[in-house]
Amino acid sequence: MKKVFVLVLILTLVAGGVQAQKRNNRKSGNSVPSSMVDCKDNKSVNNVQKARDVRQLPPPASGMDAPLKEALDQRRTIRNIREEQLPMELVSSLLWCTYGINRPEANRRVVPSAVNVQEFDIYYFDQQGIYLYNAQKNTLEMVVEGDHRPEISQQQFFAKAPASIVIVANYDRMSVFKDKDVRDFYAAVDCGYVSQNIYLFCSSAKLATVACGGINHETLTKLLGIGNGRPMLAHPVGFEE
Ligand SMILES: Cc1cc2nc3c(=O)[nH]c(=O)nc-3n(C[C@H](O)[C@H](O)[C@H](O)COP(=O)(O)O)c2cc1C
Repeated sequence: MKKVFVLVLILTLVAGGVQAQKRNNRKSGNSVPSSMVDCKDNKSVNNVQKARDVRQLPPPASGMDAPLKEALDQRRTIRNIREEQLPMELVSSLLWCTYGINRPEANRRVVPSAVNVQEFDIYYFDQQGIYLYNAQKNTLEMVVEGDHRPEISQQQFFAKAPASIVIVANYDRMSVFKDKDVRDFYAAVDCGYVSQNIYLFCSSAKLATVACGGINHETLTKLLGIGNGRPMLAHPVGFEE
């Protein structure tokens, strides 16, 4: 009888401890399922909230097989984009071509940047939310929940395209450039490489995209919680209509 009582007491204490841990996790915003990776080290210009949801991407492999000549021949702006979702295999390749790491041992990327400042934060918008691309971990970290695609721009194709990439320059990483004009110049030049990579990937994978400078800078700055930085360009991406 005494043994049964002790056993019940232990079980009650263990269950109580688990509940308290769950409550603490919820309070501190850590209640991510155990299958999700916590990516606290992906520091961005975003200061709105901590990543709540992390999507592990498949390895980048699909859609990149076109010879360079063919990809360049086919590169073009396509604004008629279907609503159809993109497979995650293509999303992973798209993001790797956009701003992935091609030399992990040196933490270098598929695009060059002046003085290797690597100033961009790459945001991925879809129906579920806004995600920050973590190239080191090959993950998408949710920063804002919900469908915010129509807020990117007045241009209608953003609301329809299944996904969009928004390229944000993080000026904190550009402090080496003391002069504002020099900083703005390099941010714009560096952004061109990123945009062209998106175009070339879309050409290779037979996807539609358009580089857009006509974006809602103020709305995006608020939405993404951009402090010392600037939304540069956006690319809606999807299958051609
Ligand atoms: C920096 C930049 C900003 C652009 N902004 C827009 C835009 O806001 N909306 C749009 O429909 N096209 C935009 N474009 C796409 C151009 O209109 C397009 O590249 C041009 O017409 C040439 O067509 P092509 O890309 O098929 O060669 C932009 C292109 C660049 C390079």
